[in-house]
Amino acid sequence: MYLYWELKYKSTTQLLLAAVLIIFIFKIVPMAYECFKGKTYIVTGAASGMGRAISIKLARQGANVGLVDLNNPDHVLAEIEQFGGKATSVSANVQHASEVDAAFKTVVEKFGRLDGAANMAGTVGSLKLGETKLAMEVLKDEDWDFLLATNLNGVKNAVRAELQLMSGSSSLVNAASVSGQLACPFNSPYGAGKFGVIGITKSVAQEVASKGIRINAVAP
Ligand SMILES: NC(=O)c1ccc[n+]([C@@H]2O[C@H](COP(=O)([O-])OP(=O)(O)OC[C@H]3O[C@@H](n4cnc5c(N)ncnc54)[C@H](O)[C@@H]3O)[C@@H](O)[C@H]2O)c1
Repeated sequence: MYLYWELKYKSTTQLLLAAVLIIFIFKIVPMAYECFKGKTYIVTGAASGMGRAISIKLARQGANVGLVDLNNPDHVLAEIEQFGGKATSVSANVQHASEVDAAFKTVVEKFGRLDGAANMAGTVGSLKLGETKLAMEVLKDEDWDFLLATNLNGVKNAVRAELQLMSGSSSLVNAASVSGQLACPFNSPYGAGKFGVIGITKSVAQEVASKGIRINAVAP
């Protein structure tokens, strides 16, 4: 008798767990993927690395993607079109606000809306591992200016343009780095830029939260 109840109880629990798992796999997971369908996202730094990967992932999930990069991102556009995804590619230097504004406007004109963005464009410049040419006592102003113009001003230019184009609840993600949280010896301009990205992200998050806009930074 005890064995009978034990087995019955166990099998009911197992059946319930299996049902929950099936609902999760066939209902909840597809819903999470569907949330990008028909929406439009801008990705800066889309020509390579994480920007390219994010662009492809968004397009696979049904989003329209505005690919923006200093280097022409047409090869990523071709990859996306190959599997039937929707994207458009625009070359722009994130250092220059006018180029960013024009590029993002082109994306919104094509797809009619903007729902979010991943601002991934960034660089360590020409610095190679182990080099010390950006150590503070020998640091050239041009190297400082270049890294800050790309990694910090670039994010500012992108976020400002995006906020002007988005309406309603949206989400922005900025590329920071562990170098924006910890010391970055021999590349203080990179570290300063990434600390700045976290600073902008935290400040603007409080400015736009009431509009339903989320802004976060990732720190690889
Ligand atoms: N890869 C890592 O381990 C790592 C670690 C920490 C932070 N990050 C940050 O994540 C982001 C992406 O990194 P990644 O490894 O994919 O880099 P990546 O070099 O592969 O890609 C960066 C892209 O940004 C573009 N870009 C550079 N300067 C630009 C400019 N002025 N205007 C427009 N586009 C420009 C480049 O052409 C390139 O396509 C960067 O901001 C980087 O600093 C990367």
